Amino acid sequence: MSFRLQPTPPARPNRCQLFGPGSRPAIFEKMAKSDADVINLDLEDSVAPDDKPQARGNIIEAIGDIDWGNKTLSVRINGLDTPYWYRDIVDLLENAGDRLDQIMIPKVGCGADLYAVDALVTAIEVAKGRKRKITLEVIIETAAGLSHVEEIAAASPRLAAMSLGAADFAASMGMQTTGIGGTQENYYMYHEDQKYWSDPWHWAQTAIVAACRTHGVLPVDGPFGDFSDDEGFRAQARRSATLGMVGKWAIHPKQVALANEVFTPSEEAVEEAREILAAMEKAKSEGSGATVYKGRLVDIASIKQAEVIVRQAEMISDK
Ligand code: COA
Ligand code: MG
Repeated sequence: MSFRLQPTPPARPNRCQLFGPGSRPAIFEKMAKSDADVINLDLEDSVAPDDKPQARGNIIEAIGDIDWGNKTLSVRINGLDTPYWYRDIVDLLENAGDRLDQIMIPKVGCGADLYAVDALVTAIEVAKGRKRKITLEVIIETAAGLSHVEEIAAASPRLAAMSLGAADFAASMGMQTTGIGGTQENYYMYHEDQKYWSDPWHWAQTAIVAACRTHGVLPVDGPFGDFSDDEGFRAQARRSATLGMVGKWAIHPKQVALANEVFTPSEEAVEEAREILAAMEKAKSEGSGATVYKGRLVDIASIKQAEVIVRQAEMISDK
């Protein structure tokens, strides 16, 4: 409803989410020492079915034993269409320490998926007297997920972040691609003997950003599979940032610096934003709602745009 203020998402840096398989505890310390804002220990698709119980044990131990600093610590559970997910939650919340911040639910298809997880999490939190309230994050990576994206964004007060999972999404949509995110060779416009590549992820990303912004959730871009292609990663991340996403996953440690580079507002951008706020403050004191800054119009809407950049920069420097 238009008289309601747009809710603000959780005030935390979320420029990079670094993933690692729960079945590979040797990398946990390295993940903790990385510059990623969010750590995602995985129980889902990077862990083979027979390794799930061991991976749960590794993660529970590491949550208590490793110094995760001030990172957001999240565990990706298995999808609700598997026999594993309830055990993931029960084992984690009954046995892991209070350092656990968040649970990531993959392949969400509707708001009721979050309701089910919320109900289970709430019961265990109360039964066990857990002090830290667990937040949730979800991956939109199915046709159903994108069709119900707004309902999902509104489904639980625990929901903090929502990512686009390009590979599973492409499979669910029947898209003819095997690449995980980025430019797709066959998705182009043709004009006067020239090919112009378009962005096949644009609609899904924009739908996610709109749903997230409506309900105060952080919109995040998911994985970029080819970790030897730095420029490809940068291009994808810059498009996501331009559309309003706050961060991107890293599926290899070398992608962390790239994500931080793109999603940290540059000094120039922050300075310009502060100047726009100052110019608008001056205009306001002179009774005007619009003014000219560097030869272009700035008005009340520019204040909000500039505040987004300044707020991001302050949050990152407060880390
Ligand atoms: N986090 C932290 N450190 C990692 C890491 C990760 N996800 N993946 C690898 N490393 C470490 C390695 O241990 C190695 O450390 P060293 O220099 O001390 O020996 C270094 O980074 C270089 O690793 P490299 O040899 O290039 O990669 P790899 O072959 O060991 O692993 C992957 C490559 C892709 C298998 C691995 O990065 C990975 O499992 N990524 C996450 C996959 C995942 O979770 N997918 C689910 C979400 S899509
Ligand atoms: Mg997936």
